[in-house]
Formats: sequence, structure tokens, C-alpha cells
Amino acid sequence: MQKKLWPAVALAAAVCVAARADVPDFSLDFAPTSAAMNAFGSAAAHRRADTLVSKMTLDEKLQFIHSEYAMSAVPGGGAGYIQGVPRLGIPDLNMVDSATGSGSTSQASTTFPATIALAASWDRRLSSNFGRQVAIELRAQGFGMGLGGGTNLAREPRGGRLFEYLGEDPVLAGEMLAERTDGTQSEKVIATIKHYAGNEQEHNRGGGNSQIDERTLRELYLLPFEIAAKRAQPGSVMCSYNRLNGDYACENAHLLNDVLKNDWRFEGQVQSDWGATHSTANAINAGLDEEEDVGSTVYLTPTAVRQAIANGSVSTARLDDMVRRKLYVMIRVGVMDDPAKGGATINFAGANAFAQAVSEQSMVLLKNDSNQLPLSAASLSRIAVIGGHADAAVLTGGGSGNTRDPVTGAFAGCGGLTFGTSTGCSWWTNPWLKLNTPIVAAIRALAPSAQVSFAGNSDQQTPFRAYTQQEIDQAAALAARSDVAIVVVAQPAGEDFGDLQSLSLANPSNQDALVDAVAHANPRTIVVVESGNPVLMPWKDRVAAIVEAWYPGEGGGNAIANVLFGKVNPSGKLPVTFPVRDQDTPTWGQNGAFEPDPVYAEKLNMGYRWYDAKNITPMFEFGYGLSYTHFSYSGLSVKHRPDGAIDVSFTVRNDGRMAGAEVPQVYLGVPYRDEPPRRLVGWEKFGLNPGEARHVRITVTPRMQSVWDTSRNGWRYVPGGTVYVGASSRDIRLQGS
Ligand code: NOJ
Repeated sequence: MQKKLWPAVALAAAVCVAARADVPDFSLDFAPTSAAMNAFGSAAAHRRADTLVSKMTLDEKLQFIHSEYAMSAVPGGGAGYIQGVPRLGIPDLNMVDSATGSGSTSQASTTFPATIALAASWDRRLSSNFGRQVAIELRAQGFGMGLGGGTNLAREPRGGRLFEYLGEDPVLAGEMLAERTDGTQSEKVIATIKHYAGNEQEHNRGGGNSQIDERTLRELYLLPFEIAAKRAQPGSVMCSYNRLNGDYACENAHLLNDVLKNDWRFEGQVQSDWGATHSTANAINAGLDEEEDVGSTVYLTPTAVRQAIANGSVSTARLDDMVRRKLYVMIRVGVMDDPAKGGATINFAGANAFAQAVSEQSMVLLKNDSNQLPLSAASLSRIAVIGGHADAAVLTGGGSGNTRDPVTGAFAGCGGLTFGTSTGCSWWTNPWLKLNTPIVAAIRALAPSAQVSFAGNSDQQTPFRAYTQQEIDQAAALAARSDVAIVVVAQPAGEDFGDLQSLSLANPSNQDALVDAVAHANPRTIVVVESGNPVLMPWKDRVAAIVEAWYPGEGGGNAIANVLFGKVNPSGKLPVTFPVRDQDTPTWGQNGAFEPDPVYAEKLNMGYRWYDAKNITPMFEFGYGLSYTHFSYSGLSVKHRPDGAIDVSFTVRNDGRMAGAEVPQVYLGVPYRDEPPRRLVGWEKFGLNPGEARHVRITVTPRMQSVWDTSRNGWRYVPGGTVYVGASSRDIRLQGS
């Protein structure tokens, strides 16, 4: 399919304008949707928390605001532990990482796809179910709190933890995070959203000073947190390792007190990242409610806080507030009355099926020359599968986003194979290959009468070393004698391993040379990418088709095969821009060196906004993704409502020959100084049968039309923008004003 490049022709625009509001109704924005939250009734929860606080002794309060994970009774311990107060019926609380499944250090867990994949699904309901499925496993293991809600924006495309986040757009990330949070808390597990804020790179991870002006903060980097905090009311916000405009995030009064607790009226608690607390009174008075330990608590120990109260640097009222917030969250989410007990059986087969479904919804078809995909098993007798350890595994992200294998109970990459380091199997060491998910086996199952052969790097000790010339030659020879060649390329990344030096697959693993050699040998070469970041594709024009599969989780092998053979029609859309070159990205600078104290000098022009503002053509733009069918757009209507909202409606029709799902996206060009050409303000995802059409209506609230006005320290409504409706941020099909 030929991509339409911006600016595309507007097909139809029926614009009818009603009286504009003098005072736009900002209360329309980010209204809480959580059934669980509403059912609980926050006023009653507040009263109950107040009563409990009034009954607690000073010692009990001091013990309640710091975590000592070594004391946990849950097998494996998780990441943190708050001791309860049995005489008052307050249970212990165990917390654990949960980005892509439970990070329990000893109990088996399902590995779901990375959250960047979840974002690529653009499917709100899927995100809610994702939160729910992860929470079900956490509770079964004895955890009442999950730390999985990562949502720093993909400002640095090379960011080492991009796979744990939700892409580069604040509204997409915020909405998906709100849904995930809601799903988690509906299963009586407290959800944390993180890392608040300005934590967009791993470089200088322990305290780099992110320098971000207030308007950019409010319009971009704080917005996903604001949306999730207001809509889903997560129990906890985790402040990050870095400093923001001089102050550490966990003692940053502007971030914690002014914005989160005052402006957004956040009623939950602020917890530190592990080791991110740097003071006692300063942090507490800036809004930190709980310190998480790295071995042992340092600044919010009972002794330190008692002393701070004695010398008057922390008030007892503030201590009560810290305790009350935690109690309130436990009551509201249901952990107080129904704590996670652990020891429950996990339905791994069901979870595996869900993990596969998420992966199938998230895959992005980037290229499909002359409908080379889907493959037809009946017409293929020899299939070559090459590279990426596709005979054994799929890739996962490393660090606290990792999980244990449900079958072997070992951490990803360690079950049965000896991938990695001489230190053996460790959840924190790289690489991170998820076993029991071979693509080769899944393809064999779908093409039983074909001969499916594998070539690649069979070295299990150093799986990401460069392909040797001999391996490349063998792969090309196999491709030459096959009907189709499927090359799997992979880009490993993980927490605490720094950021990627480049988006290139050439170094150190030589994968570009592999793709080139295979494509030269067989014109029907299909590339499957497993990555948490955008990758460069210098071979893009020389291959027939490209599928971005992300880190697809333990259902990944089957999901990839199902997409390649058309059992699933791909419907993912990119949540990050894929550039042509590193040099095109906003953070490359002169030579790609990372700034230890990053200055967000591009301001609002981040992600697709950068490419649009600078007129740089990306390789694949934000919001882009093909389908095996085709969708047409028509009949735009843009209606301004008296409350300042805009109702955008239009029709999408499946005019191809296969059922499929589309993600029509609404962008707004806001006519105000320094605003980028357009911003995402809404979208829908739905399936259509061939010939079927759907009338779509998307409301653009006043806040979505506003800019942060530093002169009045508030939002300024800017009417009169241009509405764009597209199949991506550049494939604009309809336009109105
Ligand atoms: C540090 C990571 O930054 C954070 O995301 C994680 O939740 C904690 N460690 C606990 O493992």
C-alpha cells in the first residue's frame, strides 16, 4: 500500500459552528471512569482512614511509612513490604514489580508483552484487561501492590527503558495507563504509576538533572501522569531517581505538593523509587509519603523521622497525612478488608492465551509490498527462518520489567538454556530471552507440509554477538533455496544497562548485514523485528515486508506466526516515530553523546511533533501501521459545542476483502505560538467486516485544545484549531476547521 504523505488532500469537510464558549468547561476532562473507585465511595474511605490514624501509636505510624522488603513473608519477597498493624486490622502489604507480569523473585509468572506493545495496540479495553490479568497473578502470589505503571515519554528514542513505557504521545500514554491502572485496581491490587517525572533516559540514572520548562512539562511530560491520576486514581505515584530543574524528584515540592497533590488533588501516596530518597524532612515536606528500601531504609527510618518530629522539622500533622494516605488507598482499593493471601493457583494456560492475544493486537505491519503477506501455507514448500534465536525464544526487556518463566520457574533467558553471563541465571543479567516461544515451531504448526529450516547464531553463551561472515553466508544460502525467507532481528535493552548508543542493528550484532545478504538471495524476504525501541532499517527498500513485533511476551512465537500467515490481521499502530537516521532524532545533538543533565531544549517539539515542526520525513511516523485490508474515511463533521468541546464525527469503511481493525486518529493544530503543527487529541479502535462501515464520534474536550500559559500559571483555551483525521499522524484523510 502506498503511504500518503502529509499534507494529504482533505476528502470532505462539513463544518458547522455553534456559539463558542467564553468559559470552556474544563471539568469535562479526565473524569474518573473507574467502577471500582466509584463503588467504594471515597468520603467513607477517608473517614475510616482518619479513625484508624487516630488510634495508631507514634511507633505504628513510623513503621508504616518505610519499606523493609527483607521482612516480607511472601515467597521471594517482591520489591517492598510495609508491615501492618494487626491490633487495628491493618494487614501487611507486599509490593512487586509488574511491568510485563509479576517480578516475584521466586514464583513463576506469565510474561506478557512489553508495555510499548500494549501502547501499539491503541486498545483501551485491552489495556484494562492487561492490568487486570497481571493483578490476578500478583494477588495469587500474595502481592497487594503492583509497580508496573511506567509512562515516561519516549523523548530519547534510544532510552534503555522505552519498552516499559507507552510511547511518545502524552494522551495515548495517559489514556492507556489510566485503563491499565483501572484494571489492576479492580482486582484489588494497588497500582503505582511511575517514574514521576522527567526520567526519560538511563544515562546518569542516579540523579541527572532534567531541565524542562513549565509549559513543556505540563503539556507533555506531566500529562500522562495527570490523565492517569485523575481518571483512574492510582493508589501510588513513584517519584523518580533524577532531579528535575535542580531538585531530586522525591524532594521536589513543585512536582509533589504543587502539581500532584494541589493542582490535581491526588489523594493517594507518593512512594520513592528504590534508593531515590535523599533527605528526611526536606523530602517529607516536599510531599514524599513513603521511602522504599534498597537493602534497608535510609531517610524515613523510624529513628530519623522521630528525630525530625522532635526537632520540629516535620509536623505530626504531616506524619498523620502520610499514614492516612496509605490507609485510604488500602481501604479504597480493597486491600484493607481483603488482603492478598498468596498461595493461589494461577491459570497459566489462560494467561498465556491472553498474552498471545495482546501480542497479536500490538503487532505493526510496517511494509507489505505487493501483498507479500499474509503467507499461504499451501503455496510454500520451503520456508527459511533466520536469526533472532527464533528456533528457541523471543526477546524480553531486562531489569525490573522482567518475569519468571511459568513453565520452568526460571527468569526469562535462564530456563534450560545458558544464555548470558558466567554468573549464570540471574533476573538482572542480560540477555533476556523468553523461552518456550519458538517462532520456528509456531510456523511449522501452521505450515505442516512445508520444510521449515533455521539458520542463525546458535551460540547460547553470547546470543547478541555479531553474526560471523560464515553464518551470514549460510543464512543467505538457505534463503536462496527457499520460497520465502523470514529474518528475525532483535534489539536488546534493559534497566540499568544504559541507553542504546544508536538505533542501528548493525552494532554490535551485524544484523543489517544479515538482512541485506538474505534479501539479496531471496526477493521474498520478510523481516520481523523484536525491539522495545525504534530501529533503523537501511534495508527497508530491499525487503518485501516488515513486521514490528516488539518484545512480544510468552505468546510471541504463536502471535508472530499467526500474523505472518493471516490468521490475525495486524492492527497495531506505532506509538513512537521510527526515524531514518539517528541524526534525525531530537536528542542526537552533534555526535549522539548523552547529556548527563539533559536540557529539553526542543521543548514541545518531541516525538512526531519534532519531525512535523522540522519538516523531517521519518521512516515510519507515529500512528502508522498497515493492515491486510483497506479502510476509507469520509464525511467529516466538526461541531463546536457551547461548553467549548468539539464533536468530531466521520465514517470509516472497510473496503478491502478481509475483516480487520482500524485506529482512526484525531489530531488538532492549535493556533498558538510555539505549538507544534498537530497533537493527538483522540482515537478509536474497532473491527470491521469487509464492506462494513462505522460512524465514529470523538469529543475533543476544552483541555485538549488548551496550552499552558506561564503568565497566568494555568491552562488557556485556544479555540479555532484545525482538525485532522487520519490513519496515522501523516496519513491525513480528512481535514476541517
Ligand atoms: C527501580 C526501578 O526504577 C523501578 O521501576 C522499580 O519499580 C524498582 N527499582 C523496584 O524494583
